[in-house]
Amino acid sequence: MRKYRKTEHIENFLRSTYVGDALFSDIFLYNDSIPEINYDEIDTSVNFLNKKINFPLMINAMTGGSNLSEEINRDLARVAREFNLPMAVGSQTIALEDEDSRKSFEIVREIIDDGIVISNLSGFSSVEDAKKAVDLLSADAIQIHLNPAQELVQVEGERNFSGILKNVEEIVKKSEVPVIVKEVGFGMSPKTVKKLYDLGVRYVDISGYGGTNFLEIENLRDPNSDISDLFTWGIPTAMSLIEAKRLNLKDLNIISAGGIKNSLDIVKSLAVGASMTAICGEILSYIVRGGYEYTLKYVDGLIEKTKMLMILSGAKNIEELQKVDYKITGKLKELLED
Ligand code: FNR
Repeated sequence: MRKYRKTEHIENFLRSTYVGDALFSDIFLYNDSIPEINYDEIDTSVNFLNKKINFPLMINAMTGGSNLSEEINRDLARVAREFNLPMAVGSQTIALEDEDSRKSFEIVREIIDDGIVISNLSGFSSVEDAKKAVDLLSADAIQIHLNPAQELVQVEGERNFSGILKNVEEIVKKSEVPVIVKEVGFGMSPKTVKKLYDLGVRYVDISGYGGTNFLEIENLRDPNSDISDLFTWGIPTAMSLIEAKRLNLKDLNIISAGGIKNSLDIVKSLAVGASMTAICGEILSYIVRGGYEYTLKYVDGLIEKTKMLMILSGAKNIEELQKVDYKITGKLKELLED
């Protein structure tokens, strides 16, 4: 069942057409006409999970467990290794239940070698399973996903969410590696972020609305249901990100995800408060539709264009980019007003 679901998610992601808006276009950065920066000296490196990486972008949790997943994970891991990008695997529940499926996950660590690999399980998982998932990949961190909107519309999905916060707390307290708590495309409210912070979470991936839409993906999986009237549910990524940042929580690392497609999305995310960005659906499209070489060109372009935008913003490193002035316009401005 799980194995088919993995393949169906990928197939239906590729069939999905709904285009939401992460509202990055409502973030406005200033053009610097006298940047005084040498392109060759631009430094895009950051520290993430205690390792130095070349560029603040990670490949977000996607797949594992089927033959198709193995092929995709192999190609994604090769891209991650080429650019020294962190990579998260898809939910490992299947790997804990079925030994045969493990290869499709383990291949990621084999290829990435001493780079950053991140495990993934649901917020309902036990502390023991979280430890097993990490051990399986010698993972540098584990992502714990919160996905009530997706569960509710899945025929086989979870209906009872009581006790989930306590369960996440258990995992956070007992985990030997950092825990990243993440959404899957519906965004995190400031209340959610604060609750997670209060129980010790220091990494949140707000995966907001405007990119992959799991309501549409689940709808495509089940021809007998019609939930198209719910497709606009979710907090746009830019809003979720800025509201999380405005909480001003010390040492909180906010990962901007949900609809990241180009270098402008990356630069704007960092300017308004993200410490890291993550991409999922867009890179999956490149891998499946264009192949490995084409995806390399795409990521190379993301890095090159980010450097150009950094010069134009007057920032020679990521720390400076995180301090540039910006303005918020339109719908995003309205949504951020109290
Ligand atoms: C996902 N995502 C996801 N997240 C997670 O925590 N565990 C998982 O197993 C999966 N599986 C998965 C499969 C597929 C096919 C897609 C496209 C996505 C969610 C993903 O990590 C991310 O949070 C969202 O997709 C939002 O980012 P994008 O796709 O808009 O860049």
